[in-house]
Parts: sequence; C-alpha cells; structure tokens
Amino acid sequence: MCGIVGYVGKNKAQDFLISGLKRLEYRGYDSAGIVTLDNDGKATLVRAKGKITNLEDKLKNNKKDDKIGIGHTRWATHGEPSEKNAHPHQVDKLFLVHNGIIENYKELKAELNEYDFKSDTDSEVLAALINSFYGDGKYPLTNAVVQALKLVKGTYGIAVVSELNPNEIVVARSGSPLVIGIGHDETLIASDASALLGHTKRAIYLNDGEVATVTANNIEIKTLNAEPVSAKVEKIETNLAAIQKGGYAHFLLKEIMEQPESLTETLRGRVNIEDGVVHLGGPGIPETELRRIKHIVIVGCGTAYHAGLLASYYIEQFTPEITVETVIASEYRYRQAYIPEDSVALIVSQSGETADTLACLREIKKRGVRTVGIVNAIGSTIAREVDGGTYVHVGPEISVASTKAFTSQVIAMVMFGLTIAQAKGVKNAIIRPYVTEISKLPEAIKEVLNEAEGTVRKIVKKYVSYDHGIYLGRDVAYPTAMEGALKLKEIAYVDANAYAFGELKHGPLALIDDRFFELALLPEGELYDKAVSNVQEVLARGGHIIAVTNVDKFDLSVESIIKINSEIKIFAPLLMNLVSQLFAYYMTVEKGYNVDQPRNLAKSVTVE
Ligand code: M6R
Repeated sequence: MCGIVGYVGKNKAQDFLISGLKRLEYRGYDSAGIVTLDNDGKATLVRAKGKITNLEDKLKNNKKDDKIGIGHTRWATHGEPSEKNAHPHQVDKLFLVHNGIIENYKELKAELNEYDFKSDTDSEVLAALINSFYGDGKYPLTNAVVQALKLVKGTYGIAVVSELNPNEIVVARSGSPLVIGIGHDETLIASDASALLGHTKRAIYLNDGEVATVTANNIEIKTLNAEPVSAKVEKIETNLAAIQKGGYAHFLLKEIMEQPESLTETLRGRVNIEDGVVHLGGPGIPETELRRIKHIVIVGCGTAYHAGLLASYYIEQFTPEITVETVIASEYRYRQAYIPEDSVALIVSQSGETADTLACLREIKKRGVRTVGIVNAIGSTIAREVDGGTYVHVGPEISVASTKAFTSQVIAMVMFGLTIAQAKGVKNAIIRPYVTEISKLPEAIKEVLNEAEGTVRKIVKKYVSYDHGIYLGRDVAYPTAMEGALKLKEIAYVDANAYAFGELKHGPLALIDDRFFELALLPEGELYDKAVSNVQEVLARGGHIIAVTNVDKFDLSVESIIKINSEIKIFAPLLMNLVSQLFAYYMTVEKGYNVDQPRNLAKSVTVE
C-alpha cells in the first residue's frame, strides 16, 4: 500500500527520497510526491499522479540540494488518485505524509471549519489538526503531533516536517509500520526496511503509540504519554540482491523459480530426516501444552488463507483428534466465533502487516488464546505481537502476487502440526512419510519447475483469448485450485473461480461452454477415480479441460495435459500449484499486463 520515506543528513534528500520511493513501488500506488526544505526552511513540493517517473519528470525543473525531506507513494482510499490528493499535504508551513486511515476524519474536519481544505483526503485533516496545535511554531512540532494524535481514531504511520524547523522530522506510528535507519551523519525513514538497503543496515522499528523526533545525528523516541523509550537498534538482514530481479524479466518469475532455495531456507535446521521428526523452536510452546491442544484456528487473507486451508487438510490427516478451522481474517474479526479451550491460533501473513490479520491477532490474544505467527517479514508488526512464531524465511517477496510465500507457509504450518503430533505421541510410522517428503520437496520443486516451464508457456497460448477459467480439485487439490484461480484473476484479469469437484453438480456445471476453460488438478490418490468421473461430466458438456496430473497412466482424452513427474505424492498439490503459478504468469505476459504490479492492488494491505 502507501509508502513513506524521509531523509535528514549530509546528502541531497531528493536522491534518497526518489530511490526509496522506487524501492517501495512494489507495494502498489497511484500517485507520488516529495517535499524538501533548504537551510532557511524554504520548501520545494512536487507531486504527480501516476508513476514515480511522472514525479521525476516534474523534478527535472525542481532539482534541489536540500538536506531534509519526506516523500510518499499513495494508494487511494479517500479521494481519487490525483495530484491534489497526493502527499505530502501542506498546511501553512507544515508538511505531512500519512499511511493508514483516520476513521474520525469527518468529525475532526468539522471542528477545523476555518481551514480551507484542498484535497479529499483524511490525511490533510490530520495535517490541519497538527497545524492547529503548532501554529506559528513556538510550540515544538513533536508536541503538536502528540496533541493531535491523541484525538485521532484509526491507523497511521506519519512523517512531518516544517519550514519553521528545517532540521528535524517527526514520525509516529499506530498500526502502520515505520523504520528509522541510522547512517553516518544521516537518518533515514521508511515504511519498509527495503528502502534503506544500500544506505544502512542499522534500524529502529517504531512501535505503535511511539513518536520520534529525528535529526541527522539524533533520534529521540517517546510514547504518546511522554514516557521516554530506549529503542533497540536491529540489524536489517535482507541484502540488495534479494530485492533485485537478478536477470529475470519480472520479480514474479524470479520468485516462482527461486522456490527450491526459499523452501530450503524454511526447512533449515528444522527437519531431522534420520529420526523422521521436525523441530520448530519458534512457537515456544512447552510439550505439556502441545499435548493438550485440541483445536487450531488458522487466520489469514488471500494466499495466506489458502495456505492455511491446505495446511488444515494435512494436519487433520496425521492428528485425528484435533480440529482445524481456517478463517478469512476480514470476516473473522467481526464474527462472534467461539474459540474452545486448549486452542492455538496460527496467524499467517507474508508481510506481517495485513490490517485484518493483525486485528484478529489482537482480538484472539485478548481472549487469552496462544498465538503463533507464520510470518515472512522479519520484525513486522504481526511477528512482534504474536506469542511465538515461525518465520518462513523466503526472503523479500516483491511481486504483488504471492508465490514462494505460499509454498513455505503450507510447509511451515504442516511442520507445526507435526510438532503437535510428535508431542501427542502419534506413531513415527505415520509422521515419517510427511517428514521424508518435506525434506525432498526443494529438489522436486526444482525438477518440476524446469520441466513444466516450457510446457506451460506453450499451452498458455491456446487459452489467452478466454476470459473465464474454472479451477477444479478435491481434497488437498481443492485449496490448491483456489490459490491457482486467485493467481490468474489477480494478475491476468481473467475471471477465474475454484470449485471442489463434488460441487460441480450443485450449480457450476451450468457454466460449461466455449467461453470457459477448466484447469483440473488430478493428483494420484484415493479420490482420483471420483475426480476423473467429474472430469468426464465436464467433457460430456463440451468443456475445455487442461489436466494437471501426476498419474502415470493418465488416459483421459482432454484438450491439454501437463504432467508432473515426481516421486512426491503427499505434497503433489504443491507441485501442481507451481503449474498454476507459471500458467498465471505466462498468461499475463501474453496479455501484456503489468505482471508485478497488477491494477488496483497493493502488496501489503495495511488498511481495512
Ligand atoms: O502479507 P499477507 O500474507 O498477509 O497478505 C495477504 C494477502 O493480501 C495476499 O496473500 C494477497 O492475496 C496476494 N496478493 C495474493 O497473491
């Protein structure tokens, strides 16, 4: 979603602000802007609708050597994407950038009725509110920010500068991340640590309810109640190569192809093949408590939700005395759902910042239920607020469509399930086949990707003109079909839906005609014959089937076949999902759409 950058130090602020905003482009945005201040406080404000290149074009006539400034990429919530709604917002001598949503902006706006608002945004209301406390600058800017934030309901990550004090930036957060990078005679601000790479590896992650006053050589952090905070300086572990395309045409293809390595990182030190067991230290749940667990609730959105759903099918297979319920965070946060005693909640999120997932985490914690994070982004809000957790360690996922995170989330959750099963004394003969396959998965993924890429690329050409796709699967292949359909709709803009094979007769079969193709996931197993009967029913009605299967003697006469050759059986759906990922990728390339930044979407959904 929106991105924030800020700079104060010895170098030209515009250089960092633009390069930082470009690093945050992947999060999704529709306008951008920066403001810098010279030594006398004179501001240069430049904003543009659309891409950062538009902003750069405008900056050609506004090059400045100013050493302090803030910048923003905006993803519209209140008010259309336009220059007047782009940040920074100026009120008198004060400038503000804001991520998040001010829920009570209408009430606050009504109180500020003397001010002539120029934009349609809630953010400008916050700028005007801060300014109402700041006035002619006699009062410190930080105090004005604190007074204003005490009146605000909603979420924010903000950075504020003033022409009256061109040496400091005031930043604050509640529900929207902010990182302060510590350099040599310079301090950098970003809503995502990736913007700081190449400048510093030392950073402070601001917590909710904290306000920092930042100069080139000093960072002073307080709570909104004026209590001093002694912040922990952390090391940014990501390196520059991890956020570059590394020779691939798109981040998405890079992220699909690097799954053998990313999954290896997820497994590192956690799998003992000889004993056929897994070791997950992160959740930190004592064995006595693991034994008592009777119910798991898995919470996530989008791909993270699908990963949870697929993991729940597996966990039920080897721990029969446990119930597993996977829920969509945006729904669950408003349900009056009962969580039984002896439950544990898995909070699944690649970014660790998804607003709905975070809200569920907080609600579940209030009820005294133990929470375990299945998170990728290190130091993210969810990672810091859960009781314990397992990082999936897939490295930065830049493309809006989530791919490598899905594979690792599923396996991390299955390993958590295996940890419970081990504690409960489930026989090793039951657990071992899962552990063995998990250890072989990275290599199997590599082989399938190498084999399938060319085939998928060719097959896609047959289906480019279709605007409708149906993804079909049953049992473990059903959540996998859901994930495949999501990938296709979000990047190739094809209306794709997933159905459990068994549901076809209950409605969706009526859809089958020449406008639709059907991608059928057909893993070997107990339900294979039943799925084949369902495929026959589709064929009998003129369906256009693409079969993805690992069955050796597959003899159905369908339009296209994508064969998976692998000894992996239990986790075959994860291999089939690689095909779905490649299918969506090549479909998008064929259609000529923006692969990594699909329209209307943001990488990390930090607003409700
Ligand atoms: O960062 P999170 O895993 O919490 O994100 C959840 C969803 O927003 C995300 O998976 C989204 O559905 C992806 N764009 C799907 O590819």
